[in-house]
Amino acid sequence: MKIIITENEEKFDREGAVLFTRQALKKPDTTFALATGDTTRNIFALAAVMHNELKVDYSLCKTCNLDEYAGVAADDKRSCRYRINEVLLDKINIKKENTYVPDGLCSPPEKELEIFKKKIESFGGIDYLIMGIGSNGHIGFNEPGTPLDSSFRVAELSLETRKDKIKVFGSFDQTPKFGITMGIRDIMASREILLAAKGKSKAEVIRRIVHGDLSIDVPASAVRLHPSLTILADKEAASLL
Ligand code: GLP
Repeated sequence: MKIIITENEEKFDREGAVLFTRQALKKPDTTFALATGDTTRNIFALAAVMHNELKVDYSLCKTCNLDEYAGVAADDKRSCRYRINEVLLDKINIKKENTYVPDGLCSPPEKELEIFKKKIESFGGIDYLIMGIGSNGHIGFNEPGTPLDSSFRVAELSLETRKDKIKVFGSFDQTPKFGITMGIRDIMASREILLAAKGKSKAEVIRRIVHGDLSIDVPASAVRLHPSLTILADKEAASLL
């Protein structure tokens, strides 16, 4: 495990964007797995700037998102699809048909799981996965209590996660109750993982990943077993290490 601690948020975003861009340069046909959220937003925004300035080529890359909110349409500003397009995919020269986000409106949502799985297989598996983390240790929408060998699933969001997502949905009542997500096993199958965390609310969970026991109470603790893991944390998220 490699841990990169940055002095402030600006350096955190820049470091994340450099790691992302470096991967695209190293392997021009990289399949990325992407997570939306406040943590990754500026990383992707800066990677898009680097694409423009340095002419980094994404024409052979593929992307899939880790998750999507069930019941939320792709053209809804609050969906993961809308947000990843807005911040990254619309700004780089990737082919839209080579990008995939589960369809939040699929009914029943379980129907989407096989499509999700097949899509990642057709992309040749995931080379580089970049994700944030919930303040309760969730990754994707794999909440505490999720078995570490879980695969693609429709998952119930915890109350804590729904409260955290008021910032996206405006009120608790409007927050979705379910998400379509890669399982922990699918995340672990990625060839490389970048786990990004910033801010005080992530400090305890980062401490538990690095120093705590492997436990289904902290789904993210599984990533400690990954042979190619980088944790990128700002000073606040790393403050309990
Ligand atoms: C959601 C997503 C996760 C993401 C997390 C972090 O729960 N399902 O994939 O990592 O949010 O969000 P933020 O970066 O806004 O803290």
